[in-house]
Order: sequence, then C-alpha cells, then structure tokens
Amino acid sequence: MQIPNYKDFMSESKRIKILELLKTPEKTGIGNNVTIKGWVRTKRGNKNVAFIALNDGSTIHSIQVVVDLANFDEELLKLVNTGACISVEGTLVESPGAGQSVEVHATQIHVYGSADPEVYPLQKKGHTLEFLREIAHLRPRTNTFGAVLRIRHNMAFAIHKYFNDKGFYYIHTPIITGSDAEGAGAMFRVTTLDITNLPKTETGDIDYSQDFFGKSTNLTVSGQLNGELAALALSEIYTFGPTFRAENSNTPRHLAEFWMIEPEMAFYDITDNMDLAEDFLKYLIRYALDNCYDDLEFLQKMYDNELLERLNFVTNNDFERLTYTRAVEMLMASGQAFEFPVSWGVDLQSEHERYLVEKVFKKPVILTDYPKEIKAFYMKQNEDGTTVRAMDVLFPRIGEIIGGSQREEDYEKLVARIHELHIPEKDMWWYLETRKFGTAPHAGFGLGFERLILFVTGMANIRDVIPFPRTPQSAEF
Ligand code: 4AD
Ligand code: MG
Repeated sequence: MQIPNYKDFMSESKRIKILELLKTPEKTGIGNNVTIKGWVRTKRGNKNVAFIALNDGSTIHSIQVVVDLANFDEELLKLVNTGACISVEGTLVESPGAGQSVEVHATQIHVYGSADPEVYPLQKKGHTLEFLREIAHLRPRTNTFGAVLRIRHNMAFAIHKYFNDKGFYYIHTPIITGSDAEGAGAMFRVTTLDITNLPKTETGDIDYSQDFFGKSTNLTVSGQLNGELAALALSEIYTFGPTFRAENSNTPRHLAEFWMIEPEMAFYDITDNMDLAEDFLKYLIRYALDNCYDDLEFLQKMYDNELLERLNFVTNNDFERLTYTRAVEMLMASGQAFEFPVSWGVDLQSEHERYLVEKVFKKPVILTDYPKEIKAFYMKQNEDGTTVRAMDVLFPRIGEIIGGSQREEDYEKLVARIHELHIPEKDMWWYLETRKFGTAPHAGFGLGFERLILFVTGMANIRDVIPFPRTPQSAEF
C-alpha cells in the first residue's frame, strides 16, 4: 500500500496566517520560504509580472504576492482571478511598495478553486450594502464584513471575559419555552402538529395536549426568567443566547432573531445594576479599541468618520442618569415636533431617545423609574404606586441598547401584578416559588448584542452586523 504524502501543498501544517506575516515578519524571517492560502481580492500587473492581493480573513489587510510570469504556466494564471482560492509558496521579501512591509515572491501556486469573472458577483468595484445582503453567502469575503465579523467575535469573547473575570457564571437558558411572561412582543410558535389538519378539543380550540410537548410552546423572547432562577442560587450569572421576536418591525434596529446578553445578580439594587451596565459597556468598547483597531479604522474611513472619536468619548465620560418623568418633562418643553407626541405614560420612541442622547445631553443616558403600565410585570414597584424600578440605557445613533430593572422580590406584590395583567398564574408557578422560598433582592438587564455591534462598528443597519439576518419576509441563507 502506498502511504500518501500529506506534506504537500494541500497541507495546513505549513500555512502561515497573513496576519502573522504582516504583523511579525521577523518571526518568519525575510528571505525564508512561506506558504500562504486565501482568496484573491485583486490581480493586476503587466506582461512580465502579476501582483495579487491575497486575503485569508485573519486581518483586514491583504498581502501582495508577486508572480514572475516567466516562471508560471499561462493557463494556471488565467484561473487566478478575483475570488479564486489559492495556495502560494514563495519567499518573504521586504516590500519596496508603499503601504505594505513585506510581500511574497511566488515560487509555486496551486488553485483550489477558480471564480469565473463573468459570473462571480464580488468584483473589485464597491458594492452597496443592500446588494451585499442579497449575497450574504459571499459577503464575508468583503473587507467590510470581514471587519464586522472579526469585531463581532471579539465582542463575544470580551463579554465572556468580562463576566468570567468578575465571577459571574454562564447559564444556558432554554430556547423553547411554554410561557410568554415577558410580553416583549409576538412569539414564534414551535409545533410538530400537522398545521393543515389541527386536532381540536371538544370546545373547538386547538388541542395542544397532542403536540410534541403536550402544551403550546414558542421560541423564547428572553432568557431572563430562567436566568433569575439561577441567580437566586449562584448569586451572579449571565446568559448569552439567541432570542426571537415576531414583531413586524422593519427598522434598521430590529431583527426577528437576535442575540442577547442577560446578567442577573442577587443582592443588586437598581443603582448597582446601572453601575454594572455602564462599566460593562465601557469595558466592551475599550476592548474593541484595544483589539480591533485596524478594522475600526477601516470602517471609520469607509462609513463613519466620527467612529473612533465617538467610541473614545463613550468610554471616557459618565452616562447621564435621570428619571423617565424628568425626561418626559424635558421632551415636552423642548418645542420639538416629534412624529410621536410625548406625554407622561407613553412609551418613548427611538426619536425621543435619540433627541435626549444626541441633542440634550450629548452622551449616553440611563432613564429610570418608568410608568408600570409600559413595563414588564416583574419589575420592582416603587412606593408611588405608578412607577417601577426600570432602567433603559440609551446610546447615540442607536436609542435603547440595554433594558433592565430591579425585580419585584415580594411574593404578594408580584402575584397581585400578575393578576392585574391577566397572566395565567399556573404557567408561572415555578417563577413565583423563588419569591416564596428564600427570596432575595435582585436585578438584571439585557444587552442587545447586534445593537452593541451596530454602535461599535458604526454601521447603520442591523442587517449588516449579523452574518445571516432574519427579518420579516427574509430568511434566505
Ligand atoms: O428591553 P428588552 O425587551 O428587555 C428584555 O428582554 C429583558 N428580559 C432584559 C432583562 O432585563 N434581562 O430587550 C433587551 C435589549 C434591548 O435593549 C435591545 O438592545 C435588544 O434587547 N432588542 C433587540 N435587538 C434587536 N432586534 C430586536 N427586535 C430587539 N428587541 C430588543
Ligand atoms: Mg426594552
């Protein structure tokens, strides 16, 4: 039997990431042999030499590959077009060209896959973000989405690091749920019933006892209620998972499937909760500035020339804290013609939130003590009988980035509120028992992951900060 030689050009073992070559070329050494692999961004040149910009996604920067045409088969080089995937062996050389420190002079090229220039949709010219959404399967290969996806990864990592360093435990909460306690919007139903022939009860209702779980179930809108159960045992926990809302909101800030981070802390009051939220957001933005600078610089140049300034500003200034009531007074006194008129009791719209943040205070704002009618049943009731200990963190360009509250820990008050809102008590028995047995003051909040990424990247549409967006009428890819 012949033993295959795995140490050929196909082998991963010899490959060096382009990031490493560009950042620390001295580790490889000028004049030494290297193997790089990636996708061709551009090819240009003359009749003697070709210059290939090769990118492997490890960094926003492509490396220049110099090909002496005399040493290569013409047919092979015809396959090396924009979009092709190739492996290059060559010599690492100091680059005479501006804008790059080193380049690779090719001695061998292998084409894994060509990309016919007649039909490959990602040509060199700039494409609109709208067009790129239609080719979401290929857009990770653009500089913009490479940058966004690397930043997204770094933010996810930083979130786990932040909480782990603080002694919070990561709790996995269920995605399929039997309760709609949050009231955060319409839910997606989960069923294995034959929807063309639904079983009915004697009274003509759908008979969910025959469904997979023996009851009606949905995709969760939040991990909070389960998170609270864990916080009332482990003290400080967080969740980080997908959440689903079937609201028909076609806005640049809403997704039907988004990721949420929900810390929940026993023994925290609303002030502790605000302090944590502010520290957490500043940490994450600082982390991006420290670890994603090349990508941020690229996005600033392409989309938003105030990006770095805004990120630095947020990390260096205290958030403004005021009550909902005070904010409504200010909005009413502003003389602004809002699309949605403001009065005490209305839910604030993004135009109001952004007015406060961008025009009045010119920095992030935390609003507290909202009317109980516009907030969820579990929020701690204030003595005034009309407001609850809620907190929303509002950010420039985004509006609400975090929603949270201190929780009602008093069993009697919580049950009374559940009855007022006609929430079926029998669905909530497990949640209520935490208030019956060893209840504790506690608080928590939810950070919308994509809204964080929107803010950090300076992108304008939430569809462009998640790899494969789910929005009304759109679930391709
Ligand atoms: O304010 P929300 O609805 O709060 C909750 O779900 C609480 N259970 C959180 C908690 O206290 N543990 O949502 C929290 C955050 C919002 O501030 C926003 O950033 C984001 O989630 N969010 C969305 N992001 C994208 N698309 C949507 N449709 C979103 N709805 C909310
Ligand atoms: Mg909210």
